[in-house]
Amino acid sequence: MAENLGFGVDIGGSGIKGGVVDMDTGELVGERFKVLTPQPSTPEACAEAVREVVDHFDWQGPVGVTVPAVVTKGTVRSAANIDAGWVGTDADALFTEALGRDVTVLNDADAAGLAEDRYGAGRDVEGVVLLLTLGTGIGSALLRRGTLVPNTEFGHIEVDGKEAEHRAASSVKERKGWSYERWSKEVSRVFQEYEKLLWPDLIIVGGGVSRKAEKWVPLLDVRTPVTPAALLNTAGIVGAAMASGRG
Ligand code: BGC
Repeated sequence: MAENLGFGVDIGGSGIKGGVVDMDTGELVGERFKVLTPQPSTPEACAEAVREVVDHFDWQGPVGVTVPAVVTKGTVRSAANIDAGWVGTDADALFTEALGRDVTVLNDADAAGLAEDRYGAGRDVEGVVLLLTLGTGIGSALLRRGTLVPNTEFGHIEVDGKEAEHRAASSVKERKGWSYERWSKEVSRVFQEYEKLLWPDLIIVGGGVSRKAEKWVPLLDVRTPVTPAALLNTAGIVGAAMASGRG
């Protein structure tokens, strides 16, 4: 049994997932546990759901929690794809109170970036790593040798007069019924803009659509190497556990 353990919870649009993480390998110890994200996804309702997830395990230590929003000093500052009631909420205090232990809250893409950089597709990469999650919106994380610049929010950069995530998130592909060919043109355009501004050495793509990476990554017209996330649906949990001070 691994000794160096942590615990992470990932709050997403449809599910709230948590699990015990082996901090030496970045792998989950046992199964993850998931509950449906309450609707409306108010801070109080989510805190209750997070408690249910943590209570499912025999875990007494600190917990890291992701939210799909900007988080500075534990307070949520934006709500592009979550309930507007989150803005201004001291999520750190709310979850610490609800769970009765030390909790660290961070942005979902930042958590995935931390995890991929240490254990996944960014491992051993020397230069600048840009992780982009393509889902309901576009989340971003910018790292260099394990150091994260938090809350980059590149999904909201305007590209040809339209927000990047309104152009190229995978939810746009679904809503419009686009083929991978059609959608990859939008993704290319957005990624070209990121390349121009950031000059990353590697782009890691995450989100559900990265599971089908072979269908669209080869179609991208970009100069930077693009690789799918290695941790797929556990990156948020693992990164949250890293942020909790474990590992
Ligand atoms: C939010 C980000 C979040 C991303 C992915 C964006 O709309 O502004 O904070 O990381 O969606 O969930």
